[in-house]
Amino acid sequence: MATLQNKTVVVVGGSSGIGFGVALASLQSLASVVIIASSNASRVAKAVERLQSHKLPGEVRGEVLDAKDPAAIKDFAARIGVVDHIAWMSGDIGQSLLSGAAPTEEIYSSAFTVRFWGPFILAQSAKFHPGGSLILTSGTVDMKPSPGMSPAAGVVAGLEGLTKGLSVDLAPAGVRVNLVAPGAFWDHFSEERKEHFSRSVENSQLIKRIGAPSEIAEAYLFLMKCAYITGERINVNGGRTLV
Ligand SMILES: NC(=O)c1ccc[n+]([C@@H]2O[C@H](COP(=O)([O-])OP(=O)(O)OC[C@H]3O[C@@H](n4cnc5c(N)ncnc54)[C@H](OP(=O)(O)O)[C@@H]3O)[C@@H](O)[C@H]2O)c1
Repeated sequence: MATLQNKTVVVVGGSSGIGFGVALASLQSLASVVIIASSNASRVAKAVERLQSHKLPGEVRGEVLDAKDPAAIKDFAARIGVVDHIAWMSGDIGQSLLSGAAPTEEIYSSAFTVRFWGPFILAQSAKFHPGGSLILTSGTVDMKPSPGMSPAAGVVAGLEGLTKGLSVDLAPAGVRVNLVAPGAFWDHFSEERKEHFSRSVENSQLIKRIGAPSEIAEAYLFLMKCAYITGERINVNGGRTLV
């Protein structure tokens, strides 16, 4: 089996959720350096501590990055230097849904800035070792939109086109670009909302439970390690689109 030995893995949005799961899985896969980044300094510091507490061999570093700021993304790219794999998980639609309130235009606009323009700008400015890769993160809402979620469906659908376009643009530099489309994972929801969504998942998926971060992380690890895949999308959603 391939490992990530001698590789530097960057996880943007690595302070919680799926991103934290990918950072941990990268260390378990023997990555030499794992850099996590997100906008909240104390969340980054706590996540670095949690990763270090596993006492795995790789070095863990934290970086503060507000992905709404294009200049900050370019500075970040310069600070991290030449890397092997970048996984982009940053996004904030999930946070707005925590409250149960309908997302506003402003929230969707900010989600588009972070989830679409963020990885695009980083793709333009990051430096990769040959054989490197960039992995974007979408969702299931483009394939199976819930009522009232059309802007989210548009944001997520746009990421698939962006992935294919970037895979063409970065191929001459030997860099692969792929997309993971996760299904339900609500680690950070209140118990009440978890219960509500767990019931809805039971009726809307073949695998009748929410995913674990480690299960979703497997897709990212595969895309880092398999040198023969680019421009593709992996759906990890418990069979959500088949019910
Ligand atoms: N959870 C699901 O069921 C699900 C399903 C499909 C798709 N997704 C997508 O998958 C991604 C990860 O989801 P998750 O559930 O793991 O979410 P999460 O735990 O809320 O993680 C989101 C990450 O993004 C970071 N972030 C938010 N705003 C940022 C900004 N302006 N600049 C930089 N980083 C920022 C957060 O850290 P800070 O707060 O420190 O910035 C955090 O590290 C999101 O894009 C989400 O929309 C999630």
